[in-house]
Amino acid sequence: MDLGQIRRGVDMGPSAMRYAGLIEEIQDLGFEVSDYGDITIHRSTTGSNQEQKLRNLKEIIKTSEELCRELDEILTKGGFPLVLGGDHSISIGSIAGIKKHYRDLGVIWYDAHADLNTAETSPSGNIHGMSLATNLGLGHPILTKIGGYQPKIKPEHIVIIGARSIDEGEKQLIREKGIKVYTMHEIDRRGMTTIMEETIAYFKDRTDGVHLSLDLDAIDPIDAPGVGTPVLGGITYRESHLAMEMLAEAEMITSAEFVEVNPIIDHKNQTANIAVELVTSLLGKKLI
Ligand code: ARG
Ligand code: MN
Ligand code: MN
Ligand code: MN
Repeated sequence: MDLGQIRRGVDMGPSAMRYAGLIEEIQDLGFEVSDYGDITIHRSTTGSNQEQKLRNLKEIIKTSEELCRELDEILTKGGFPLVLGGDHSISIGSIAGIKKHYRDLGVIWYDAHADLNTAETSPSGNIHGMSLATNLGLGHPILTKIGGYQPKIKPEHIVIIGARSIDEGEKQLIREKGIKVYTMHEIDRRGMTTIMEETIAYFKDRTDGVHLSLDLDAIDPIDAPGVGTPVLGGITYRESHLAMEMLAEAEMITSAEFVEVNPIIDHKNQTANIAVELVTSLLGKKLI
């Protein structure tokens, strides 16, 4: 999916991660992998896409409903859903499908951004900047009701990690709802180990499942240049690797998505390679 923002190419993220060896690497860890293939993207050929406040709304809704059904099915069959993006608007459909299986789903939003805009506060009209708000039940009802219910997530079941570009409306919402955010300031000051220990402890008694929504732009553009909305001063590859290993050790994550990989603006598939490294660490890959 690339309709949640304006730069083309992020719809090729899944191909780039497959090319980087994702499936083979996961199989090497001893898991059985069923590749569900790509979700069909319903592109409009009319001019309706130019609707500025919620760009490509209709197409995103169709795709999200489809993704929601597939994730519901995977969890019903007892699988671990791993979703590849695509821009971050895909988390609207993925969380809609996943949440059906949990009473109190926790979400780790590993991202340079908060994605807490609504059509009213968004500076861009890009739905990938609204996906976390949508999951909270905020914004246009046609988006928030994907999957037939809302809200999906409670504010106290969210931890945002890596934030460094937050819009005015998003700041207000974070304060109003009391959403837990570890900005780059906290990560620099207190270290990734502490941040992850706290995150894991925070979710332990509060949730019956935790979804990791990892936007590759959380990672510094020096390490992960192939993203549409890069922001300087990000999390390093090493810190991210550690974060994934700590989550694996805690056996806490019940589903995950890796989004915003854009091979068109990448450097020799570096960002997809990093994504694959992080996925395997999350799934328990150890050095020795
Ligand atoms: N906050 C900005 C916006 O609403 C940027 C969002 C970027 N989001 C992302 N998933 N990369 O447009
Ligand atoms: Mn994002
Ligand atoms: Mn982002
Ligand atoms: Mn690794």
